[in-house]
Amino acid sequence: MNRIAPYVTPLIPAFVVIGFFVWFSNWIPQTRWQPPQAQEISAALAPAELAQIGQTIVRQRGCLACHTIEPAAGVKGGGRGPNLAGVASRRTQGVKGGPDNLVGYLAQALYEPGAYLVEGYANIMPPSISAPANLNYEEVVAVIAYLQSLGKTPTVKVGDVPRPAGVRSAVPSGKPTTVGAQAAEPAAMFASLGCDACHSLKAGETKVGPALDAPGMKQAAAERKMSLEAFLMESIVNPKVYEKKGFPSGVMPQDYGTRMTAGQLDALVRYLAVQGKRP
Ligand code: HEC
Ligand code: HEC
Repeated sequence: MNRIAPYVTPLIPAFVVIGFFVWFSNWIPQTRWQPPQAQEISAALAPAELAQIGQTIVRQRGCLACHTIEPAAGVKGGGRGPNLAGVASRRTQGVKGGPDNLVGYLAQALYEPGAYLVEGYANIMPPSISAPANLNYEEVVAVIAYLQSLGKTPTVKVGDVPRPAGVRSAVPSGKPTTVGAQAAEPAAMFASLGCDACHSLKAGETKVGPALDAPGMKQAAAERKMSLEAFLMESIVNPKVYEKKGFPSGVMPQDYGTRMTAGQLDALVRYLAVQGKRP
């Protein structure tokens, strides 16, 4: 004991520091975020269990901002995207010119929505692996299992679906799952996210960026052949896609998609869609 003590004593501060970091890194996922569902998605889960998790993900990550799941309706539901009820039955053979099986098609629809556009719809769906849904690989598989269950029996397990390079996997340290956490108060968000520093809500009032009154936005949306909501969503999450002439380029922050939950983005868009409406 006495022979060891002289070596150990000077190391005590180091142990304290290491201990702190071990504690701290364990503390982060549990307290800062709700323990993400992603942690529980393992290769051991049966397809039906995955489908259950997938259903929660679809509800929480903004898919229903655009999609309906109405068994009684056809492909066209009341949403901006196709009605997902029955998607598994109508895509059993995939699509012409694309993947020829259901799972392959669903994977493509999530990873790369623009690769095949459902007839009558525009390319407005963000890839599910980027903002605002930010699905990791295991979550993509769970969503596919759930979509399979809408018309068929789910069959996929983690590992059955390809994971393209660059698609994140759920890591044990967890990832921020902010969805559903904060209440979305759009007027406060407009200030706290700094929008009001660059935008006025009054028609004709130009700051660094254009006024965001709804009539003006409607016109801009029409020029892009987009719905008002889709245009607003795109402009906020991905401002580089379309930059308004006569305004500085690249000035608007590019990372809003990662700073808002899907629910907050949806609330902000619905708020902006009725600003400055003339009676
Ligand atoms: C901004 C609106 C929007 C959001 C958000 C969105 N989608 Fe879509 N989605 C669309 C549109 C529009 C289409 C049709 C055009 C296309 O194929 O890309 C589509 C197509 C699809 C299809 C193919 C449907 C078919 O009939 O073949 C699937 C599956 C799908 N989305 C799933 C999802 C899931 C899951 C999420 C959430 C992670 C999601 N979408 C989020 C708009 C959206
Ligand atoms: C640092 C300044 C700045 C901030 C902060 C900012 N924007 Fe912008 N925004 C701009 C500029 C400049 C443009 C015009 C160039 C472009 O289209 O990117 C723009 C364009 C837009 C457009 C498209 C307008 C059109 O007519 O094409 C929308 C919508 C928008 N911003 C919404 C927002 C929202 C919502 C926020 C807050 C979440 C925000 N902006 C924060 C500078 C900013």
